[in-house]
Amino acid sequence: MSRENHDHSSNKGSPVLWMSAVERKTACVTGGNGYIASALIKMLLEKGYAVNTTVRNPDNTEKNCHFKGMQALGPLKVFSADLQEEGSFDEAVAGCDYAFLVAAPVNLRAENPEKELMESGVRGTLNVMRSCVKAGTVRRVVLTSAAAAVSCRPLQGDGHVLDESSWSDVEYLSSAAKMSPGQAYSISKVVSEKEASKLAEENGISLVTVCPVLTVGAAPARKAHTSVPAALALFSGDEEMFNTLKHIEMASGSLPLVHVDDLCRAEVLLAEKPATAGRYICCSLDTTILQLARSLATKYPQYNVNIDAVGDHPENPRIRLSSEKLVGAGFEFTYKTIDDMYDESFMEYGKALGILPC
Ligand SMILES: NC(=O)c1ccc[n+]([C@@H]2O[C@H](COP(=O)([O-])OP(=O)(O)OC[C@H]3O[C@@H](n4cnc5c(N)ncnc54)[C@H](OP(=O)(O)O)[C@@H]3O)[C@@H](O)[C@H]2O)c1
Repeated sequence: MSRENHDHSSNKGSPVLWMSAVERKTACVTGGNGYIASALIKMLLEKGYAVNTTVRNPDNTEKNCHFKGMQALGPLKVFSADLQEEGSFDEAVAGCDYAFLVAAPVNLRAENPEKELMESGVRGTLNVMRSCVKAGTVRRVVLTSAAAAVSCRPLQGDGHVLDESSWSDVEYLSSAAKMSPGQAYSISKVVSEKEASKLAEENGISLVTVCPVLTVGAAPARKAHTSVPAALALFSGDEEMFNTLKHIEMASGSLPLVHVDDLCRAEVLLAEKPATAGRYICCSLDTTILQLARSLATKYPQYNVNIDAVGDHPENPRIRLSSEKLVGAGFEFTYKTIDDMYDESFMEYGKALGILPC
């Protein structure tokens, strides 16, 4: 694969035009055409960072069209890189102050989940970590893991609060006769975190890991196939996506939510704050499908959310994911309720992506 570097930078109209190249920090964000990474790149550019991002195919104009809109915000370079190719990220990470590892295999329709999610996820994370070691300039690596690495374990009664000391139970998840993509995804996140942490320690890299829950809200990416269609499934009636919500609630004991802006602000804070270390759960609300359906039916009656059709689901969350450590590091969530998170801009985003009718 070619390693061309596609410079989308242009400073016209930038609020951070005055910033000299010496003052400007550079951050690498992997997987820039993804939902979360696209929002993170925008935030970093708005904060005055220069950003190097990676995509598998820089020529895919449909997936990469949002980069054009961001070019006015600051210097944005797009590199070609694949998680499965050793050394593929060297060029994108070279000279960077920060590296945000966001790209990961997330295909919950994988036919061979062990290979496509588990093995590929871990190999990809370590591959980028090795590029960070080679660069020698990266002062902090922020790895985006998932709450799936925290809460997928047998429930021992109700009312437990899980914090960063909780790990999804790999043995329990591997015990099924046929591993589901959801189980492989959770294992991939647990093993990636642990292996990345080992590699960081052995090589003197400062690593923090963020464990976000189901992420909602508008982002610049013009394609979204993970949490956005799932979060909007009660409106769209997409059964497969609704099953994703059911799977999360069943596997973890609640339906935890965070807004993408809050998640990106948390990632930036954890990168910039020298004293942070280890894992950070990023969850602003623990809810259930039933509570979500009731709220959304009231807020958006025009979508006819059928609460009765939701089926037999728990009324209240059986567990809670604590973000106390993140809050203790100085973070404050902006979007705290279903009402905040399912605002008009999220509905408009759903329409723009073709998930909701216009
Ligand atoms: N969304 C959520 O609710 C949520 C919650 C918890 C954690 N996370 C984590 O957050 C991260 C981003 O998720 P997302 O929701 O933004 O998903 P997404 O939109 O599907 O983004 C995933 C990105 O990873 C890239 N990728 C996948 N396989 C790759 C490979 N072999 N080489 C290079 N790039 C590859 C994809 O590139 P292509 O476009 O080329 O496929 C895409 O840019 C993931 O690590 C995910 O596990 C997400």
